[in-house]
Amino acid sequence: MDAPPRDATPFVPADHSMDALVAAAAACRGCDLYENATQTVFGAGPASASVMMVGEQPGDVEDRRGEPFVGPAGKLLDRALVAAGIARDKVYVTNAVKHFRFKPTGRGNRRLHQKPDARHITACRPWLAAELDGVRPRVVVALGATAAASLLGPSFRLTQHRGERLPWPPEKGPFAQDDSDIEAALATLHPSAVLRGSDEDRQAMFEGLVRDLSLIPSLLA
Ligand code: URA
Repeated sequence: MDAPPRDATPFVPADHSMDALVAAAAACRGCDLYENATQTVFGAGPASASVMMVGEQPGDVEDRRGEPFVGPAGKLLDRALVAAGIARDKVYVTNAVKHFRFKPTGRGNRRLHQKPDARHITACRPWLAAELDGVRPRVVVALGATAAASLLGPSFRLTQHRGERLPWPPEKGPFAQDDSDIEAALATLHPSAVLRGSDEDRQAMFEGLVRDLSLIPSLLA
């Protein structure tokens, strides 16, 4: 019997145009998450975007609709982008992991989000690398610790470096040898972290997210 694939590499086509990537990703079996998810949720946005934002993994709504950041976290991201003066339709938005990982709750069709493990992040990274190559953004933004780990390596500390202009390629991590045209990276909170914040903290967390995102125009200047 053939060994199961270790990651998405055998599924990623040589052609990194968006149409080719989206079509191939629909059949990805690079890790076990495809077994329970409804579908692959690939990145979306202009193929020539100068900014790429990377989240964790699709949520429940995204899994059903097949599009990234269209559920509650996506709505909060939309509000934060408006407040930061950034047009979402100019941004390519994707996730570190392209399938929804969840636990059934046993109550109707409610599903409980489960964080992806390091092996899921690693298995899915060839898709992220292909998206970076296909879109060729000038700035890449990690939304939350999972995206930061995927892009900047597991030793990157979001709490210490959020909201900073970060060099690209990163000093360490899987993209340390990347020779793309990316000029800078930025890491900030995941919008879901704001949604999970207490009533007292939520406004300040939202403002912090907006402050971090507001750095993007200066990274593009
Ligand atoms: N959270 C994410 O990280 N990505 C999505 O697409 C939705 C919620």
